[in-house]
Amino acid sequence: MKLADLPAALKLLEKESRLRHPDDFLDRDRLQDEFGEDFVDAATNDYLGLGERRCSFTIGPVQEWAVDVSRETSPQVETSPQVGLKSTERSPESPQVGLKTAGHGDTTSRDFVEGGLGVPSPPRPNAHVSLNVSRETRDRPGLNAFSSESRRFQESNLSPPTQEKASCELAQPLPGGPSVREDVSRETVQTVLRAGASASRLIYGSSRTHLDVEAYLAEWLGHEGSLLFSSGYAANVGALAALLSPGDAVFSDAFNHASLIDGIRLSKARPRVVSHLNCDELEKGLKSSRSSSARWVVTESYFSMDGDGPDLPRLRELCDHYDASLYVDEAHSIGTFGPLGAGLCVEKGIRPDVLMAAFGKAVGSHGACIAGSLNLRTWLWNRARSFVFSTAPSPLQTDALLSQLHAVSAAEGARKRLDEVGQKVRAGLRRKGVEVEPSSFGPILSLVLGSEEKALKVAANLRRSGILAQAIRPPTVPDSASRLRLCLRASLNDQQIERLILSVARETKGLTSQ
Ligand SMILES: Cc1ncc(COP(=O)(O)O)c(C=O)c1O
Repeated sequence: MKLADLPAALKLLEKESRLRHPDDFLDRDRLQDEFGEDFVDAATNDYLGLGERRCSFTIGPVQEWAVDVSRETSPQVETSPQVGLKSTERSPESPQVGLKTAGHGDTTSRDFVEGGLGVPSPPRPNAHVSLNVSRETRDRPGLNAFSSESRRFQESNLSPPTQEKASCELAQPLPGGPSVREDVSRETVQTVLRAGASASRLIYGSSRTHLDVEAYLAEWLGHEGSLLFSSGYAANVGALAALLSPGDAVFSDAFNHASLIDGIRLSKARPRVVSHLNCDELEKGLKSSRSSSARWVVTESYFSMDGDGPDLPRLRELCDHYDASLYVDEAHSIGTFGPLGAGLCVEKGIRPDVLMAAFGKAVGSHGACIAGSLNLRTWLWNRARSFVFSTAPSPLQTDALLSQLHAVSAAEGARKRLDEVGQKVRAGLRRKGVEVEPSSFGPILSLVLGSEEKALKVAANLRRSGILAQAIRPPTVPDSASRLRLCLRASLNDQQIERLILSVARETKGLTSQ
C-alpha cells in the first residue's frame, strides 16, 4: 500500500467499527484509580497474579550506581540483608538509596535492587535511574495503595520534591508470609512496573513505561511516533506484512536480513532483489515499475554481515523522485553511529518513511521499535500481527531499556573510541597485506574467505590464541562467501588491537578473496 493511503485505510476501519485506538490514555490505570479497592481486573492472562512480583521506582538525579540486595529467610527467622554495592559513582547531590527489608517467610526469598544508568540526554532533561525491587510479596492491599501513590506523583507532573525520605509500606504481612518494608530516599517515585505484560497491548493495555519509551524513541529518532515490538525480527515481519500489498513493487537489497525477507514474503508482494548497494540498478527498477500500485525500497542502513551501508541520501532522493516509500532497518547502526547514537539516517540527515531500530545490539538491551508517522503507529497497532497477537514487552524490561537508551545517547566517548578502533584495525590489517573491503566501516569487519572450511579453520585457530570471532557460513551469507566476522568494540585497548591484527593477519594470510 502507499503510505499516503493510510488515513483512508484507517477511516475505513473506523467506519466498519474495527479500528482499535492505541491505549495512550492508560485505561486500566484510570479505572484502577477511580475504583481503588473495588477495581476488578478481568482482562489479563496473568492468572496467578505473578506478573506483579516486581516493582520499580524511577529516581533522580543519580549518575551511576547499582545495588544488589539479597536476603535469605528461613522459617520465622528474621535476617538482615546483605548489600553489595557494584558501582557507586554518585554525584554529591545524588540521593541516597537505602533499603530495609525484614523477612518472616517460610520460604527462601530474594530481593534485588538494581540501578540503571541515569545520564541526562537532550530529549529528556532529567537524569533518570531505575530502581527495580523484586520481592516475594505481591497482590496485597498495600500494592494498590502504592500504585495510587506513584500515580499521584505522575499526575503532579513529577515535579521533583527535594530529597525527601519516602517510606512505602508495600505490603501487609500475611499470616506466615513474608513482609517487606522498603525505605527509599529519592526525589520521585514514578511508577509501579510489572515483570510481565500479561498479554498483547490490545488486550491488557499499555503501561506508562511503554508510552514513555515510545515517546523518547520518536523524539530521538526524529519521527512523529514509534511502536515497541518484542524483537527486531517481530518488528520487521509485522510491519512489512502490514504495509506491503501483493501488487506493490518491492525493491530489496540482495543482502537484507532474513527478518526483512520474511516480512516481504508474508506480505505476498513479489520482491525485486537489487544487487547489494546498487543505486543505479534500483533506479532502473523504479523507472520501470510506474504501473505498480505502490513502490517500496527496503534496506539496512548498516549491513550486519558486511559492515557497509547504502548511500542513504541517494536512496531518499530516488524514493522522492519515483514516489516510493523508504523502509530502513537500523538494527546495527542505532547507538553505533550518529549524533547521540541516533543512527545513520539521522547522521546523514534523511528521514525514512519507516525506520526499524533494534535494541539488542549497541543499546545492550532487547526489543525493537518501528518509528514513523502517528498514522503508521495506529495502523501497526491494528494490523501488525506480531504486535497484535503477541505478549507485549515486559514493563520492567522496558524500564531497563529506557535506562539503556539514556546511556547510549550519552556514550559519545565510547562511539568516538569505537570509530578509532575500527580505523586502527583496518589500517593495521591493510599494512599486513590483508584485503579489507574499502566500503566497510564501523565495528563490523568481515574478511571473506570463500569456503566454509577455510572460515571455520581460521576461527578455530584464532580461538587457540584467545580470540573469539565467528565464522559466518551459508545460509547466513551466500555460498562461497563464508567469512570471518570481527565485531569490534570500544573497550579494546591498543595492545588487544595489536594482538588482534597480528593474529588475524597470520591466520588469513593469502586466504582473503576480495
Ligand atoms: C539487520 C537486522 N535486522 C533485524 C534483526 C533482528 O533483530 P532481533 O535480534 O532484535 O530480533 C537483526 C538481528 O540480528 C539484524 O541484524
